[in-house]
Amino acid sequence: MKIGVLGTGMVGETIATKLVALGHQVTMGARSRDNEKAAAWVKQTGGGAAQGTFADAATAGELLWNCTAGVASLDALAAAGADALRGKLLIDVANPLDFSKGMPPSLSVGNTDSLAEQIQRAHPECTVVKAFNTVNCHVMVDPGRVKGEHDLLICGNDAEAKGRVREIATGWFGWKSVLDLGDLTAARGIEGYVPLWVRMYGFFGSPDFGVKFVR
Ligand SMILES: NC(=O)c1ccc[n+]([C@@H]2O[C@H](COP(=O)([O-])OP(=O)(O)OC[C@H]3O[C@@H](n4cnc5c(N)ncnc54)[C@H](OP(=O)(O)O)[C@@H]3O)[C@@H](O)[C@H]2O)c1
Repeated sequence: MKIGVLGTGMVGETIATKLVALGHQVTMGARSRDNEKAAAWVKQTGGGAAQGTFADAATAGELLWNCTAGVASLDALAAAGADALRGKLLIDVANPLDFSKGMPPSLSVGNTDSLAEQIQRAHPECTVVKAFNTVNCHVMVDPGRVKGEHDLLICGNDAEAKGRVREIATGWFGWKSVLDLGDLTAARGIEGYVPLWVRMYGFFGSPDFGVKFVR
């Protein structure tokens, strides 16, 4: 499958690398067509890996991943453009973390809105599913790094799109438990968990952890 991964950070690289390993053709997108991190990734990955602008990656992909900095995601997706996004599933793994006042970061949007909703409002031409943002990127693609059961939280307005994300999570990455929390307003809570994730990262001293909901 042709997949566009928007983002050249550790998340974009980790997801893109996993997708190529699974046999997909991945275009990594950045602000510039000759982004150095993307070039290094293409060089080390070889066949199946390509780079381009956000618009190039979105155009090339039948399936898209938003792995850009949350405070810049709307700009990155605007640069990708409505034509390239139209009719596609966009898996939004970004977190709206504002580091401008140092650590710990605060949420740039929350409570009555979320980044995922902002993206969906700005781009009704694509279908946004919020997923994978509640774990470290290495855990996203290899949930077995966490010993014991843990849940993946997803939400979105389109049932078919969420079904595809569930298949990707379970069939491609090996997740055993995917909790669909409903429409995209659930992203307010899913993104709102992330400040606690940051705190728990300091508490555990390792990013290899997840959450399991018990009732
Ligand atoms: N680290 C994790 O394990 C983890 C886990 C869950 C969720 N997340 C979320 O995943 C996302 C990616 O995280 P990351 O650490 O890999 O990368 P990052 O440093 O947060 O973001 C890098 C990407 O954002 C783009 N970007 C930055 N400023 C921009 C701007 N002004 N306009 C347009 N694009 C801009 C960069 O573009 P260029 O390529 O052009 O530089 C780059 O592609 C974040 O939202 C993060 O919160 C991270």
